[in-house]
Amino acid sequence: MARARALVFIATSADGYIARADGAIDWLLRLHARVPAGEDCGYAAFTARVGALVMGRASFEQAVAFDPWPYEMPVVVLARRGVAVPAALQGRVSVSAEAPRALLERLGAEGVAQVYLDGGQLVQAFLREGLVDEMTVTTVPVLLGSGRPLFGALPADVDLELLDSRAWPFGFVQNRWRVTGPSDGSGASR
Ligand SMILES: NC(=O)c1ccc[n+]([C@@H]2O[C@H](COP(=O)([O-])OP(=O)(O)OC[C@H]3O[C@@H](n4cnc5c(N)ncnc54)[C@H](OP(=O)(O)O)[C@@H]3O)[C@@H](O)[C@H]2O)c1
Repeated sequence: MARARALVFIATSADGYIARADGAIDWLLRLHARVPAGEDCGYAAFTARVGALVMGRASFEQAVAFDPWPYEMPVVVLARRGVAVPAALQGRVSVSAEAPRALLERLGAEGVAQVYLDGGQLVQAFLREGLVDEMTVTTVPVLLGSGRPLFGALPADVDLELLDSRAWPFGFVQNRWRVTGPSDGSGASR
């Protein structure tokens, strides 16, 4: 059984941060106010391609405050220590301490072909293991100077093939890349 493919869809500042050091995304919400009604920058089309959302504990701890809960797909929170899931989200959110590869193999065996991978540390961990298949990164026009980065150290260069590139008049730029190497060797997804 092929592992599930891992797809990233995330926004960064022009200097590559996904959140301030304290986790705040006020800058993203502020800039998002420039986006005209009806423009979702490809989000609905992206979520239609995935069967589950895998997010890091830190992303979940921010997302849990969203009201209403914005995700229709099943959510798996990856955490090595305990996470409190509110009663209202029981059955929609599960918590797992599985290693990245084991998680993608389990989800693949359960019939999930593609997952949405969310959270900077999580993306970095999956990238280090050659387990990210595609990344859509939307760069928004602000410099933060510091914060939580999307990318980090890697054991080797990771080659990318540009699949699509878009720019909007409100200043957002979006690149969609296929990750072409180094491969995890499964041959399952490329
Ligand atoms: N700009 C955007 O589009 C965007 C998107 C998503 C999130 N965010 C923001 O980004 C912040 C969260 O991102 P983040 O990079 O700080 O953290 P993250 O990737 O969401 O979560 C990191 C946590 O995931 C857990 N984890 C489980 N398995 C792991 C593994 N194999 N490797 C690494 N971590 C693993 C660890 O928690 P344990 O300590 O429990 O093991 C780790 O501390 C939040 O502030 C959120 O609001 C922004």
